[in-house]
Amino acid sequence: VMRIDILSLFPKMFDSPFSESIIKRAIDRELVSIFIHNIRDYTHDKHHTVDDYPYGGGSGMVLKPAPLFEAVESLKEEIGDAAPVILLTPQGRLLCHKMAQELSTQPNLILICGHYEGVDERVRKHLVTDEVSIGEYVLTGGELAAMVVVDAVVRLLPGVLSSEQASQEDSYAQGFLEYPQYTRPQVYRGWKVPSILLSGNHQEIARWRREQAIQRTLERRPDLLGKAVLSEEERRVIEKVRQKGTEHEH
Ligand code: 6GU
Repeated sequence: VMRIDILSLFPKMFDSPFSESIIKRAIDRELVSIFIHNIRDYTHDKHHTVDDYPYGGGSGMVLKPAPLFEAVESLKEEIGDAAPVILLTPQGRLLCHKMAQELSTQPNLILICGHYEGVDERVRKHLVTDEVSIGEYVLTGGELAAMVVVDAVVRLLPGVLSSEQASQEDSYAQGFLEYPQYTRPQVYRGWKVPSILLSGNHQEIARWRREQAIQRTLERRPDLLGKAVLSEEERRVIEKVRQKGTEHEH
C-alpha cells in the first residue's frame, strides 16, 4: 500500500477532494493511505510562525526552513529515508502521464505545498528531491497542485480502477486523445448517434474509434502523434484522415 504524506499550511483544503469518488474508495480499500500534516505543528514559538520577510527585501513572505526540515525528518523516521520529497511549485518540472506513472511505483511520497513568494532556497537545495508544477499558470498555493498529483498517481495504483476503467487505455498512455462516446437516447434533439455504433459490428466499431481518436489528435494535439509509436494500420489511418482534411461536424 502506497503512503502519501502532504505538508500544508491549509490542511482542511484536502478534506473534500479525498472524501469522494475513486480516491475515497482507494483509501477505504487500503490501496493508499494519505496523511495531511499542518506545517504549523512543527513550529516551536508562541505564534507558530511559518514564514518571514525575505533577506534583501522585496514583497511577500518566504516559508522558513526549520518547520519544513523538522516535519520531513520526523516523517522519515517513520517511513525511512528513501521517500521522494516533492515540492509543488510553478518553477517545477511539468507534470505529465509518464511522471505520474513513475511516482505511482514509489512506496512513499512526501509532498510539500509551497506558498507565498516561495520557500527558503535551502529547502529546495537540501531537503527536496523533485520540484513539480501542474501547468503554466500560477496558483495561490501548492495545495490544489498536490491534489492533482495525488489524483493522477492514485488512479494508476493497482486495483484502484476497475478493468472497464483500465488506465492502460488512457489517452496519454496510448499517445492519442479519446474517441467520441455516446449513450442513450439514439436521437437527442434531432442529433443522431453515428450509425456504426449501433451496427453490432465490433471490428468496424473498433476501426471507427481508432480513426476518430487519430483525427481528434491530429486536430487538437498533433504534437502527441509525433511522439507516439504507431502501427502500420495507424499510419494508414493518419494518411487517410490527412487526405480527407478536417471535416468539422461540431
Ligand atoms: Cl505546483 N504551485 C503553484 N503555486 N502554482 C502552480 C503550480 C504549483 N503549478 C502550476 N501553477
